[in-house]
Amino acid sequence: MRTCMWVLALLFVFGFAWEVGADQNVPTERISGSAGDVLEDDPTGRLKVYVYELPNKYNKKILQKDPRCLNHMFAAEIFMHRFLLSSPVRTFNPEEADWFYTPIYTTCDLTPTGLPLPFKSPRMMRSAIQLISTNWPYWNRTEGADHFFVVPHDFGACFHYQEEKAIERGILPLLQRATLVQTFGQRNHVCLKEGSITIPPYAPPQKMQAHLIPQETPRSIFVYFRGLFYDINNDPEGGYYARGARAAVWENFKNNPLFDISTDHPTTYYEDMQRSIFCLCPLGWAPWSPRLVEAVVFGCIPVIIADDIVLPFADAIPWEEIGVFLAEEDVPNLDTILTSIPPEVILRKQRLLANPSMKWAMMFPQPAQPGDAFHQILNGLARKLPHAQSVYLKGGQKILNWTEGPVGDLKPW
Ligand SMILES: *[C@@H]1O[C@H](CO)[C@@H](O)[C@H](O)[C@H]1NC(C)=O
Ligand SMILES: *[C@@H]1O[C@H](CO)[C@@H](O)[C@H](O)[C@H]1NC(C)=O
Repeated sequence: MRTCMWVLALLFVFGFAWEVGADQNVPTERISGSAGDVLEDDPTGRLKVYVYELPNKYNKKILQKDPRCLNHMFAAEIFMHRFLLSSPVRTFNPEEADWFYTPIYTTCDLTPTGLPLPFKSPRMMRSAIQLISTNWPYWNRTEGADHFFVVPHDFGACFHYQEEKAIERGILPLLQRATLVQTFGQRNHVCLKEGSITIPPYAPPQKMQAHLIPQETPRSIFVYFRGLFYDINNDPEGGYYARGARAAVWENFKNNPLFDISTDHPTTYYEDMQRSIFCLCPLGWAPWSPRLVEAVVFGCIPVIIADDIVLPFADAIPWEEIGVFLAEEDVPNLDTILTSIPPEVILRKQRLLANPSMKWAMMFPQPAQPGDAFHQILNGLARKLPHAQSVYLKGGQKILNWTEGPVGDLKPW
C-alpha cells in the first residue's frame, strides 16, 4: 500500500511545549498578521466587566451539591465565574462597566449517571434576571443588551438536551437581547443567536497534562476515533444519532487498517491521540464534542465532520488551516480524502498545531494563562464594543415579554 509508506514517512512529530517557552526546539509556526495576532491579544484595558453579586443558591450551593460539575464538559460556566472574580478587567463600579455578568450555573444539574438535563435552567435564569433587574438599574437600561451569559449546554440557551425540543423552545425569551457565550455553534439554527460567542467545551487541563508523552513519539496511527457510532447504547436501530455521520464512519471503515476506531475508551486515550495523525471529530448530539479540544491540545489534526458548524473563537483560530473539513455526505470517501492530502500540507498543519497559543485558546486552565479561552472570551466581548446607542432604551421602553414562553418556565424557582 502506497499510503502506508508515506504514513511511515510522517513518523516525526511536533509536540507541545506545555509551559510557554519551555522548549524552544519545537518546530512551530504561526500565522502572522491575521489570526496569530488576534489569538495573542490582551484584553486588559479594553473592557470593564461588572460581576453581579448573587445569593449562593445560583452558583456555589449548586456546585456543592454536585462537584462533578467541575469536571464536566460544561464547566466553563463555573471557571469563567472564578476567573472574572480576580480578573483585571473586573470593575466594582457598575457605572463604568462595559459589560455585566451574572454568575449562574444553569447547567450544573446532573442525573445520577452524570447526564446534564437542564429542565430547571429556564426558571433559574428567569429568577436571576428578575433579581438583577429589581436590585440594580442596569438591566432595565438595555434589557440585557450589555449583559452576557455563559450558557454552555448542548443547545445553549434553548435549554433542552434533545434537538427537536430545543428548537421548539427557542432561546429563552428573556435572553433575546443579551450576548450568549456558548459551546453550541451551528449556522442557521434557532439556538445560535447572531453575535453569540462560541467557546470550546471544557476539557480538564490537569488531566490532559498528566497524559503528555514525549514529543518525539512517532505518530504511528493514521486515523483515530473513540466514541459512539450509533445512539447512547450504540444501538444501530436506536435512531438517527449524529445525522448518521458516525454510523457511516463505522460501516465504511471498521475493517480498514488505516482506521483505529472503536467504542472502547482505553486508558491510553490521550496518549493514543498523541500517536495519531488525524483525529476524527464528528458531530454527536451537538456539532462539537470535547474531542475537538483534545485533538488540538494533543497536536492531532482534527477532521471536522459537522455540516454548518461554527467553531470556537473562529475569528481568532485559523480552523481551515489546522483542521480538515469533511461534508457529512462525504464520509464514505474519508479514506481517499485523507490519504490524498500531500505530506507537506500535513506537516504544516502539525506545525501550526504545535503553536502553544493555539492550545491555550482551547483551554480553561487554573490559574489562567495569557491567550487561554478566558482571554479569548474577553477579546470577543471587547470586539463587540462600543455598544450601539440604540441598545439603550428610552423612557421606560420595554421590548422583552416576561410572560412569553412555556408555562412551566414561568413558575418560580
Ligand atoms: C425594572 O423594570 C421592572 C418592570 O419591568 C420593574 O418592576 C423594576 O422595578 C425595574 N427595576 C428598577 C431597578 O427600577
Ligand atoms: C407576551 O406573551 C404572552 C404569551 O405569549 C402573550 O399572551 C402576550 O400578549 C404578550 N404580551 C405582549 C405585550 O406582547
